[in-house]
Amino acid sequence: MTLRIEEHRDRVVATLDRPEKRNAIDQATIDALHDLCALLERTPRTLIITGTDGVFAAGADIAQLRDRTADDARRAINATAFIRVHDLPMPVIAALDGYALGGGAELAYAADIRIATPSLRIGNPETGLGIIAAAGATWRLPEIVGDARASELLLTGRALDAEEALRWGLVSSLHPADELLAAAHRIVDRIAANDPLATRHTKRALRTPRAGHPAIEVELQAELFESPEKIRRMTDFLEKRR
Ligand code: COA
Repeated sequence: MTLRIEEHRDRVVATLDRPEKRNAIDQATIDALHDLCALLERTPRTLIITGTDGVFAAGADIAQLRDRTADDARRAINATAFIRVHDLPMPVIAALDGYALGGGAELAYAADIRIATPSLRIGNPETGLGIIAAAGATWRLPEIVGDARASELLLTGRALDAEEALRWGLVSSLHPADELLAAAHRIVDRIAANDPLATRHTKRALRTPRAGHPAIEVELQAELFESPEKIRRMTDFLEKRR
């Protein structure tokens, strides 16, 4: 099993667990990610995705990549899985320790929130292997860090260390390795204290292309304005003040 799943009422923790191959993302991992997405589409919960043994993921599995053909490239095997992760109804938090390279970095870019340890090394060395980063880096990384920085990273193949990733806003905070998971859970606790439907709608609005605004907010808010949970939460607030 390359992906360990731990289910809780309001969250799921998925741990990439193939340490002997530095959690290289192979077809079995992609299949497991699809199963995980199916689970979270059926019963939406916040997802923490993390690695093992001081490594998030050292890339797509190069042994499998080497044998892939043009037809395989057109099937967008990793891109399709990472898009599904990105599109999950509830937030996705990537907790990154050590290497997050190539496809591992692209899986992290697909998350809504990234946190890391001081030993993070994140980047896309694909051109050095004679391929492009085709599972999200060329469109997601510019959205996260801006065009100039994304171009520098993808055209040189250099990896950022934790401090630089923090400065660039690629990760939002750094934590010692033994506190990383607890920090991720604290983020989930904050999310869990809010209205799940409002969280899902916020994520949908954030994910909607510019041309869809403000129509998308109007519709989502119209639904929330008549939700019993909104009345309850606002009444609670007003009555506590009295
Ligand atoms: N795909 C397939 N196998 C990988 C892998 C990958 N992306 N990354 C590591 N492995 C395998 C190694 O081949 C090795 O297997 P072996 O024990 O059967 O020889 C095992 O994982 C351990 O890797 P090793 O290189 O010995 O570990 P390390 O701790 O010395 O170095 C890295 C770690 C991440 C620096 C190094 O493994 C590396 O450069 N990996 C490839 C990174 C990359 O180019 N990723 C982009 C892919 S698109």
